[in-house]
Amino acid sequence: MGIIVKIQNFIVILFILGIGISALSAESPMNEPIQPIEAVVAENPGMVELGKKLFFDPRLSKSGFISCNSCHNLSMGGSDNLKTSIGHNWQEGPINSPTVLNSSMNLAQFWDGRAKDLKEQAGGPIANPGEMAFTHELAVEVAQSIPGYVAEFKEVFGTDKISIDDITTAIAAFEETLVTPNSRFDKWLMGDKKALTTKQLAGYKLFKNSGCVACHNGSAIGGSSFQKIGLIEPYKTSNKAEGRAAVTGRDADRFMFKVPTLRNVDLTYPYFHDGEVSTLKDAVDIMGRLQLGKKFTDEENVLIVAFLKTLTGDQPSFKLPILPPSSDKTPHPKPFG
Ligand code: HEC
Ligand code: HEC
Repeated sequence: MGIIVKIQNFIVILFILGIGISALSAESPMNEPIQPIEAVVAENPGMVELGKKLFFDPRLSKSGFISCNSCHNLSMGGSDNLKTSIGHNWQEGPINSPTVLNSSMNLAQFWDGRAKDLKEQAGGPIANPGEMAFTHELAVEVAQSIPGYVAEFKEVFGTDKISIDDITTAIAAFEETLVTPNSRFDKWLMGDKKALTTKQLAGYKLFKNSGCVACHNGSAIGGSSFQKIGLIEPYKTSNKAEGRAAVTGRDADRFMFKVPTLRNVDLTYPYFHDGEVSTLKDAVDIMGRLQLGKKFTDEENVLIVAFLKTLTGDQPSFKLPILPPSSDKTPHPKPFG
């Protein structure tokens, strides 16, 4: 008798568990085109610390004034919130600065994907005459002249001789930690049904069912493919960027850009590669018309924007790094000219 009751209980429990499991799987992140961002644990904390210093160090630029953080400000969503960036000598940059947050999830780096990963990317701006305007040789010379860096590179890389390879490796290791988990949307994905308001959820459904997720998907809600801007209607811009065609040389790749991540998109205005669009309202309207041939009503637009604002996650937070001082041998910055 006792055993039978227990077996019955067991079956009931199994049944409840079964419902629980099927209910869970019906709404589990596995069934959504977007996955939550996972926090990262730094494999090599010493290297990350060194990379953080280099990211904030303006002495890697000719002027001694521009650091990675100047254009990828970690207090402003990893971007500069300018239409196009300001480079050495106040030069007008050619293109909008994408966020460095979650950039490790991109299939490649830059709008046109010309760098295969973060390490390859990090060498670019240092030597770009329109950005930091330095050379890799000078960047190495500066780091090598700073005793605090020499000691830290020795600890991390086991060598007395600093190389550009080690500099970019360290910067990339730091950038890999710049992920933003725990957004309201991620909490919802992970089962907290109260994390989104009815409007935000309706916005997500609209985003999903209208087809935005064809291009904006995965953990980064973008970054996983190159797509043409202006599929249904052409995108009008005076910006000269060609997109992917600049890398492949193929005419068919004109105006193909890396789909930007929509993580933290509330913080990373203005939008698009030319930075010409300053509000999410306009960005959503343009995307609907140009990519999907869909004119959203004002109400629908408000819902999608409400959803997009739930994609802001925990921003990287740490103690501002204190940089090791220059020595008498450190080459002097040239801020003017
Ligand atoms: C003068 C402004 C400026 C500085 C300084 C700068 N960047 Fe950038 N960064 C940009 C712009 C603009 C782009 C986009 C260029 C393009 O796609 O052609 C970019 C692209 C990137 C990307 C690619 C992101 C993506 O989604 O494709 C990463 C990563 C990045 N920068 C990291 C860095 C690092 C690391 C440094 C310092 C070594 C740095 N940047 C210095 C403006 C700057
Ligand atoms: C066919 C692919 C595709 C579809 C569908 C698509 N997008 Fe995009 N989205 C892109 C590309 C490519 C860009 C970058 C274009 C550029 O900068 O020139 C972009 C950019 C954006 C941006 C600006 C992000 C930034 O940081 O600059 C937002 C916001 C956006 N999309 C939202 C949406 C919404 C909302 C939908 C659905 C209504 C949608 N997208 C549908 C490919 C797509």
